Amino acid sequence: LDNSTDISGGYQEFPFVSEFYDSVIPYRNRLDIDFYIQFARESRGLVLELGCGTGRVLIPTARAGINITGFDCSSRMLEVLKAKLQLEAIEMQKRVELIQGDIRNFDLGKKFNLVTIPFRPFQHLLTVEDQMACLRCIHRHLNDEGKLVFDLFNPSLKRLVDPKSSEELMDEPVFATPDGREVVRKHRLAGVDLANQVIDGEIIYYISHPDGQTERLVHSFKLRYLFRFEVEHLLARTGFQVEAGYADFDKSPLGSKYPGELIFIAKKV
Ligand SMILES: C[S@@+](CC[C@H](N)C(=O)[O-])C[C@H]1O[C@@H](n2cnc3c(N)ncnc32)[C@H](O)[C@@H]1O
Repeated sequence: LDNSTDISGGYQEFPFVSEFYDSVIPYRNRLDIDFYIQFARESRGLVLELGCGTGRVLIPTARAGINITGFDCSSRMLEVLKAKLQLEAIEMQKRVELIQGDIRNFDLGKKFNLVTIPFRPFQHLLTVEDQMACLRCIHRHLNDEGKLVFDLFNPSLKRLVDPKSSEELMDEPVFATPDGREVVRKHRLAGVDLANQVIDGEIIYYISHPDGQTERLVHSFKLRYLFRFEVEHLLARTGFQVEAGYADFDKSPLGSKYPGELIFIAKKV
């Protein structure tokens, strides 16, 4: 996939995104890994992770003894993942298969007990057609009784309409790269299309090199936000039944925290 037709939300177009991804402190500290591993364990079969990125969840899952297929459209993210896999034990590497493709249209020729989409790749699908195409592909790849587990952010209405959201905000620690660059990451909402539920997001990287040079790099991307009941309807339209929903990876029920996360456990019907 070339960069000019990036469908991934900038993960292919901007090389610095995959380069820095594993250093970003809030990503490193995200408390979703044990949650996803637990479902993978319970599934007792093959797991397919869509939008696996650099393997933040996939690697610990395979280390836990689970056979997992990672799927992502960004060759850059997959390259980072492959390099990390090279450092793992051969036995662990054998449990992993990686496939490059688009989550809206895939046919892997086999079925899985569990499909996961950790950390919001589904929100890079900007239309109902794309969302349904993805869910229908997932449906075809699940065994009977198979499950789909995925998370989205719950949109904060206050943040969407707050004019201050367009200002650069820094709410995370600075990180350093192995070659001694210091990176400050800020983010802002460059725009919000309230009618179409699409945000224009920007993550801005301020980089200080050891020789004193500085750089400002911008990862711009579009994301669709979805509301809880909209997701429930989408799932029902594509042949899923919601088994459970959570507002947090500690399994607080949906609706118990605001804005929190939108985490769905759906069963194939
Ligand atoms: C925020 S990252 C999440 C990565 C990983 N799941 C994690 O938890 O760290 C989003 C990922 O979704 C991938 N992605 C976005 N749209 C996609 C699509 N249409 N098909 C396949 N992958 C896609 C991107 O390339 C990127 O790796």
